[in-house]
This record gives sequence, C-alpha cells and structure tokens, in this order.
Amino acid sequence: MSSRRGFLSRLALLGAGVAASPLVLGEVLKKKKSIARNVKPIVISTWDHGVAANDAAMQALKSGGDALDMAEKGVYNTESDLKNLSVGLGGLPDRDGITTLDASIMDYKHRAGSVACVSGYAHPISIARGVLEKTPHAMLVGEGAEQFAASLKFEKSSYTNPEAQKAWKEWLKTSEYKPIINIENHDTIGLLAQDSKGQLAGACTTSGLAFKMHGRVGDSPIIGAGLYVDNEIGAATCTGLGETVIRSCTSFLVVELMRQGASPQEACEEAIKRLYANNSFMTDEYQVGVLALRADGEFGAFGLRKGFTYAICQNGQNELREAKSLI
Ligand code: GLY
Repeated sequence: MSSRRGFLSRLALLGAGVAASPLVLGEVLKKKKSIARNVKPIVISTWDHGVAANDAAMQALKSGGDALDMAEKGVYNTESDLKNLSVGLGGLPDRDGITTLDASIMDYKHRAGSVACVSGYAHPISIARGVLEKTPHAMLVGEGAEQFAASLKFEKSSYTNPEAQKAWKEWLKTSEYKPIINIENHDTIGLLAQDSKGQLAGACTTSGLAFKMHGRVGDSPIIGAGLYVDNEIGAATCTGLGETVIRSCTSFLVVELMRQGASPQEACEEAIKRLYANNSFMTDEYQVGVLALRADGEFGAFGLRKGFTYAICQNGQNELREAKSLI
C-alpha cells in the first residue's frame, strides 16, 4: 500500500514537472554566475616542498606539456627526493617497517587514476597516471597496482631511507600511535595546476601516516577526499590526517562550494570548519590543510591550525606562504 502511495506521489511530482532528475539539477546550477576561464599558467601546492614541485610543473608546461603533465611532473619531483620523510620511498614506514605509497591524479576531462598501498616503486604518481590513461578503472591497490606498474615497465626499487628506518626503530620502543601535527613541517604533496589553455589538473602523493597499520590508506588516493578536479569549476586538494578528510569528502566539498558561488578562500574555510565539526569525537592533535584553485585562476588556502604552508607560482613568481587557520 505504502509503495503504491509512493508511486502515486512520484507520478504527481512528474506531472507537476518537478521531478528531481539530474537534468533539472543541472539547470538550477547553471543559473549561478559563470566563471571566466584564466589562461595564465598557475600552480599551487602544499608545504615547503611545493616550491620545487611548482618549478617542475612549470618546466613541464615549458616543455610542451599540459595541465596533466604539470600535475604529474610537479609531484614526481617531490617523490624523487629520497630524504623526504612523508612522500615517496624515503617516507616513514608503517608499523611493520614497510613504506607504502598512495597517489592520485585527475585531469580536465574528468579522468582520474589512483593507486594505494604500493611498495617498491619510486613514482606512484606515474602508476596512478597509468591507471587514468591505460585502464578502464579509477583505482588499483597493493599487489594489483604493483603488477600493473610492472606491466608498464616501471623500474622497481628496494630503497629504504636509513633515517626513516631509524625513526621506526625508535617508535617501536613504545609503539604508541599518535599523529604528529605539521610533522617536519611537511606532509603529503597536493598540487593543482592550470595550463595556458585554462585547463585544470591535480595530483596528490604521500607515504601516508607514519607508523600506520599495514594496509592503511589515507585520503590522498581517494578521489573527492584528497583530490578533486572539475574543469568547469575548479580543483581542490588536501593534506593532513587522512581519516578526517575521508570522512568529510573535503576536496569534493570545496569544489561544490565554489560551484554554489563561494570564493576559493570561503570554500576552503567552510570545508575546514565542517571537517573539524564532523571529527569532534577525535582528540585535537591533528592538522589538515586544504588548497583550492578556481577556473578563473583565483585560489584559496586554509589550515585547521597554524603552520600549514603552501607554494604559489604565478606571473613568474614562485613563493612560499603560510595559510590562515581556524585554530
Ligand atoms: N594526508 C595523507 C594521509 O593521511 O595519508
């Protein structure tokens, strides 16, 4: 009886022309002011290591690449730094002493690729790009991602960072799990790029939380959490404690807030406030930072707490700034 009533009321809605079809929803959103497209290249990325990543991204553009190349080559630079304790094979390992890597990439055609819990490969971002370009999938994990990397002839690496191993052995003495705010003043690299055609792309790569459980995956390879790109509107990326970001779909939220008319800065601030409220059951000892880049070239940055730095490269200038924060 109740399903018949439901059917009849759906029919009535259809008759009234207010069915909630995606088409109708799209029409409503189109009434928002349209965003002019910036065509001056711009790159924004997280933390101090973002400065070198931005340079690498701009170099990729100069070499004839597009926004997707800028995104990949930018963070590839950070992955190549084997002294970096939070990105790439130099990163701090999990509680079993194994460094596992997560990465994602998304482009202006709305294509996305990501890999999670990969070990033995130096450049998870290139494997993620392989997923985007050469598979019908959006995400590969663990052994499957490594098999795929081997099929692309990516070189395996058995590198372990002595400093990271030493830190792990020290951690084993207490084995106490505790996120460290602004660890070493750097964390994940998330990078958003716009090329000279105004096309947007983004990339995000990390060794994840230090001394995590083996198999733990953070926000960085989760499309909509650590990274999201909608070429019509803008792009967003996150850094910090991934569990809190996953629970709030923060990058997707930032882009959707911009779609509704929020400025990139307002969108970042609202998303961090939402994340903090959503994670109120947690202890306070974590950091999250978010960056946004709108299609018109305007950008925003905001941290949950002080200390979140980001690098912005535009008009021939590449500089490090500290984001405003909620706390
Ligand atoms: N944001 C990186 C991670 O939590 O793994």
